[in-house]
Amino acid sequence: MNKQLLKETIKQLFTDGKGLLAMDESTGTCNKRFAEAGIPQTVEMRRSYRELIVTTPNLHESIGGAILYDETIRQQTKAGIPIIDVLIKAGIILGIKVDMGAKPMAGFPNEKVTEGLDGLRDRLVEYKKMGVRFAKWRAVIAIGNDIPTTACIKANMHALSRYAALCQEVDIVPIVEPEVLMDGNHTLQQCYDITEKVLKILFYQLYQFRIDLEGIILKPNMVIAGTENTKQNSIDKVAEATVNCLLASVPAAVPAIAFLSGGQSPAVAATHLNAINKNFKDKLPWIVSFSFARAIQQPVLEIWKGQEANVEEAQKILYRRAKYAVAAKCGKYNAVMEQSVV
Ligand code: G3H
Repeated sequence: MNKQLLKETIKQLFTDGKGLLAMDESTGTCNKRFAEAGIPQTVEMRRSYRELIVTTPNLHESIGGAILYDETIRQQTKAGIPIIDVLIKAGIILGIKVDMGAKPMAGFPNEKVTEGLDGLRDRLVEYKKMGVRFAKWRAVIAIGNDIPTTACIKANMHALSRYAALCQEVDIVPIVEPEVLMDGNHTLQQCYDITEKVLKILFYQLYQFRIDLEGIILKPNMVIAGTENTKQNSIDKVAEATVNCLLASVPAAVPAIAFLSGGQSPAVAATHLNAINKNFKDKLPWIVSFSFARAIQQPVLEIWKGQEANVEEAQKILYRRAKYAVAAKCGKYNAVMEQSVV
């Protein structure tokens, strides 16, 4: 393991306030989002969509790294240029989702465990040859009646740690993503308690698996009440709970935290990230940035609608959303920006 190289990659990913773009939806998830937006669910549509993203002018001003899905990393633009070449040329570092998805956990109703460790060492070697410098593995933890169980949390954090070890073996930075889902009617306090437990178990496992904490990126959820809970908390309260939870459970050795958006609207996710960075500027030992998928891409899909004629407008909104995310990372985002016209 080349610790210096891992550190250098992380530094480059987040340089000048930049963050990450998660454009790694699996075929199933991408098709689901296409269906909701009335877009045909074909390989060609997914290819066109990913081409739209990577060819967005000046995206590199805000995005330091893009997380791809295996299908995308092998695709080309209509002009025959490999998608990965477009990104490298733009100065955007290549990342890849390597987990094989969250599957029902045997014996544990309504809980999931993420699969994908078999053959991972070989897949990482192949990706590395393609130019990949960081990877992602997502574990999902649901809150509900009597869940999550400690067994489910431990199984997922164990898999995340084994994945992280395999990545670091070949100098690929692992994004470690233990997502506590927003679905449900739980309170902010319940989300806090579960997130804290998950993170504490995660860091204990990472320690046991000899992971170099200075060579990982943590991708957590924010601490928020469930989407079905009618009592939602203020922006400042979410920011405070999120920061306190992270301070209680994430070692300062971790260089960077990049939040997932988890189903928050783009503006709400940006507002929360902004409050975290603005209100707690002097308390954060880590870079606190973003690795959003929906909170950057949702409006893009809605404008694009699968139509060539809408590509330019869709790219403008993508560029803008990425800029707003950077502003939020710097504590300089405000709602007035939403009214600006490009
Ligand atoms: O793994 C989840 C994605 O990378 C982040 O997606 O921002 O839509 O939650 P999201």
